[in-house]
Amino acid sequence: MQDNSAATAFEPFNVTLRDGREVLVREIGEQDKTGLLAAFSRLSADARYTRFMAAMKQLPEAMLEQATHPSPEREFALVALAMGPDAPSIVGGARYAAAPGSDACEFAVTVSDDWHGLGLASRLLRVLIDVARCRGYRCIEGYVLSSNTSMRRLARRLGFADVPCPDDATLRVVTLKL
Ligand SMILES: CC(C)(COP(=O)(O)OP(=O)(O)OC[C@H]1O[C@@H](n2cnc3c(N)ncnc32)[C@H](O)[C@@H]1OP(=O)(O)O)[C@@H](O)C(=O)NCCC(=O)NCCS
Repeated sequence: MQDNSAATAFEPFNVTLRDGREVLVREIGEQDKTGLLAAFSRLSADARYTRFMAAMKQLPEAMLEQATHPSPEREFALVALAMGPDAPSIVGGARYAAAPGSDACEFAVTVSDDWHGLGLASRLLRVLIDVARCRGYRCIEGYVLSSNTSMRRLARRLGFADVPCPDDATLRVVTLKL
């Protein structure tokens, strides 16, 4: 049984990355639609493909709406914001979602290309793991392209098992018991 009573209790926090740059990590909200579209437009074609497993030129409105309105009962989503010259911009995001009644949730994480290798995805995923555990999930898993060595190494470093996906030879399933 999941306990989402902590759904409003997530406190934003600052993270100093490996190169000294700082980001603010907070829950996603309706106000992030424009920032999310801008972040998506800056992603390389490769990064879009590895995240969505499809060639996507634009983020469809329905996905944008869903992304910025996570269901408090079974979803949780974070954005990482960097201060730009004018306004903060989204440089990373991570989320999990669970099917109704399930004690397992599925994560996804994306970091802007010019912010790779600084520990941001690791940090976001650690937070997701903690939140999922606190809310009563027993397992967190992700579907990752077999060729996505960066994501697979990161997941293994955090203790995830990395096994072939039974339905698709191009995919791996990374799973962590909580
Ligand atoms: C996969 C992805 C999320 C990784 O993001 P990231 O922020 O670069 O990840 P991290 O910085 O936490 O870890 C990546 C590397 O940096 C290294 N690193 C991070 N912090 C470090 C530190 N403090 N000291 C030394 N090395 C460090 C890690 O060792 C890791 O190296 P490795 O890939 O050789 O094992 C990013 O490449 C991405 O957004 N890809 C496109 C979307 C995608 O594939 N998402 C996954 C499917 S859900």
